[in-house]
Amino acid sequence: MQNLLRGYEKSVRPVYNSSEAVVVALGLTLTQILDLDEKNQVLTTNVWMEVEWYDEKLLWNSSEYEGLASIRIPCNYMWLPDVVLYNSVDDYTSGYMPSLAMVYDNSRVFWGPVVRFRSSCKIDITYFPFDDQVCRLKLGSWAYNGYQVEVVNRSTTMDLTNFVDNGEWELIGVRVTRNVVYYNCCVEPFPDVTFYIQLRRRIKYYFMNIIIPCIILSFLCLAGFLLPPESGEKITLGLSVLLTITVFMLMVADKMPQTSESISVISIYLMVVLSMSCLSVLTSVWILSIHHQRGQPKQVPRWIKMFICSVLAPMLCIKIQKSDSEPSRKRQTNKDRRSMKKSRVAMEEPEIIRLEPMEEVQEISLVEKNGYRESFKERQDAINQLINMLQRKHHEEVKEDEVFREWRDVAFVLDRLLFVVFLLIITVATVCILEMRPGEKGFSRSGG
Ligand SMILES: *[C@@H]1O[C@H](CO)[C@@H](O)[C@H](O)[C@H]1NC(C)=O
Repeated sequence: MQNLLRGYEKSVRPVYNSSEAVVVALGLTLTQILDLDEKNQVLTTNVWMEVEWYDEKLLWNSSEYEGLASIRIPCNYMWLPDVVLYNSVDDYTSGYMPSLAMVYDNSRVFWGPVVRFRSSCKIDITYFPFDDQVCRLKLGSWAYNGYQVEVVNRSTTMDLTNFVDNGEWELIGVRVTRNVVYYNCCVEPFPDVTFYIQLRRRIKYYFMNIIIPCIILSFLCLAGFLLPPESGEKITLGLSVLLTITVFMLMVADKMPQTSESISVISIYLMVVLSMSCLSVLTSVWILSIHHQRGQPKQVPRWIKMFICSVLAPMLCIKIQKSDSEPSRKRQTNKDRRSMKKSRVAMEEPEIIRLEPMEEVQEISLVEKNGYRESFKERQDAINQLINMLQRKHHEEVKEDEVFREWRDVAFVLDRLLFVVFLLIITVATVCILEMRPGEKGFSRSGG
């Protein structure tokens, strides 16, 4: 080593002819993907670098040294190519591990430091959590141009024999390309070797913790439509679902980079469910206000009644009880109708019928007592008026009840209609999100 390094200057390129380039072959052994930070778009990997070149100044004849064909030299004693990770997000203070370099008697040098790279990686969250990500590691000489240090790839793939699988990301494929780039600074070319790592998110965790709860919640939001308005819990249920969905949205948003470039499918799904439950709260308010109408209710407009009774109700398989409405009466036989009418007359106006003969009898018996007669007649009139009033009132109440019942029917049918509509929307959205996958565009994982 002393003979080799005598007069060795480690800061100059190891070539005798300065017009010639040092060819540096780069390779990576990927040992572990430590983390992919979606929020900051940083990929942390553990790699073994493989750097290989010929150092013309480290040449010896093995026969002169008892057949010694290779030696290990501490790498800080010799020239090293200034290979850097172009897309690193670290501050370069750590540097490389000062490992030994293997030097062979034909002047070949192999240097393999272990490095932890923190590289920037553009994250596309469109298909989150069904997403694939492609990250790249761009390695090249920083200061030497392509005429001085020629960077080439050692192989077309990364070595994955020592790869330890990541729990969150599955390694789909790796690829290596060599590029030559001309920068603004200089006219010389700057070659680099770019390693592509394609990762696919393992879905189970997100499936169990986000997708399935979201689907369950979205169906829970439907339950609000089945809840009868009398229970008074319609809006409470809707609001609880709304709040829970908001929590899930926050959870998902927490994972995502704050970018407006693309919106993730799961966010859209959550947005659909959120707006559904918002709408369900709104429609609950509307239906409750229909159901609990105050004051003098207006008659249900005829066209609404027709539409709901003859179109919506049969469509939704709802039987509406129609006591006073025309269609039901048509169905009854004439005999039924007549008997019903009779009984109704008997029921509604018994007092008047009974009162009239009584009045005559009273009149006859009291005919002599003229003085009484006057006041009795007055009383009679007052009673009749009172009875008429009560009767009218009763009629009105019956009618009002009828109108209320009709409005409640309208509310019920609307509730059911909205249930079916929301069920359809949520089913379609759920099927869509489960079918959503990024297009297959990857490259194969070929280790070795
Ligand atoms: C140095 O290398 C260049 C290019 O390979 C060649 O043209 C030139 O003749 C070489 N010079 C010497 C002194 O060998």
